[in-house]
Amino acid sequence: MVDNLKRYGVFNSDKVAEVMENIDRALFVPNGNSAYADTPMPIGYNATISAPHMHATCLQLLEDYLKPGMHALDVGSGAPFSFDFLVFVIQERTETQWLQGRAIGVDHIPELVETSIKNVEKSAAASLLKVLNTDGRQGWPEFAPYDAIHVGAAAPEIPQPLIEQLKPGGRMVIPVGSIFQDLKVVDKNQDGSISVRTETSVRYVPLTSKDAQLRGN
Ligand SMILES: C[S@@+](CC[C@H](N)C(=O)[O-])C[C@H]1O[C@@H](n2cnc3c(N)ncnc32)[C@H](O)[C@@H]1O
Repeated sequence: MVDNLKRYGVFNSDKVAEVMENIDRALFVPNGNSAYADTPMPIGYNATISAPHMHATCLQLLEDYLKPGMHALDVGSGAPFSFDFLVFVIQERTETQWLQGRAIGVDHIPELVETSIKNVEKSAAASLLKVLNTDGRQGWPEFAPYDAIHVGAAAPEIPQPLIEQLKPGGRMVIPVGSIFQDLKVVDKNQDGSISVRTETSVRYVPLTSKDAQLRGN
């Protein structure tokens, strides 16, 4: 699957290929579903694990913002899968370099957060990682500013707290819209101004309140 995504031009980074080959999607996809199809899969609570091509796209967009010692925030970390990607990128550096690094995952479904915490505890970098049960639209100021912010659900507009928690020189990748959505790349310039561009059209579940998500709207 990873070879096919690369062949079809979804991404070209060797690092992204390495990361995707090292994390088995089957560990996160409920039994009975094909883990290696390039499509989102339900994980319960009206949430999905995103399609592999979206993980590849977002990871490539953030690759340069996940360097040694950097801080990363994954909003809507879910199972977690994209969170594991961020962690992998941060922890593969030498010990001295990544000791200052942090990867924070936030989701508002307690059961998904619980699963995430269990997965994180198995990681060698567990002390650098945190998964929190909170409304991701508020970000998580304690470890801000972030070099990289990945948002795994579509917001009606870019949440202001996430803009504020992005470091000057940092990048956020976030789907924005309702029925029609765009994957936005938000760069914070050194003077604090923001540049936003559209990478591609996408289809994500909404970044919303927990109640609205559980009601299915
Ligand atoms: C499409 S899933 C993405 C899961 C994972 N990041 C991935 O890439 O496979 C979207 C996730 O966003 C979460 N979510 C939606 N709105 C949220 C909010 N306001 N705060 C925190 N998490 C939220 C959902 O619970 C769900 O786990």
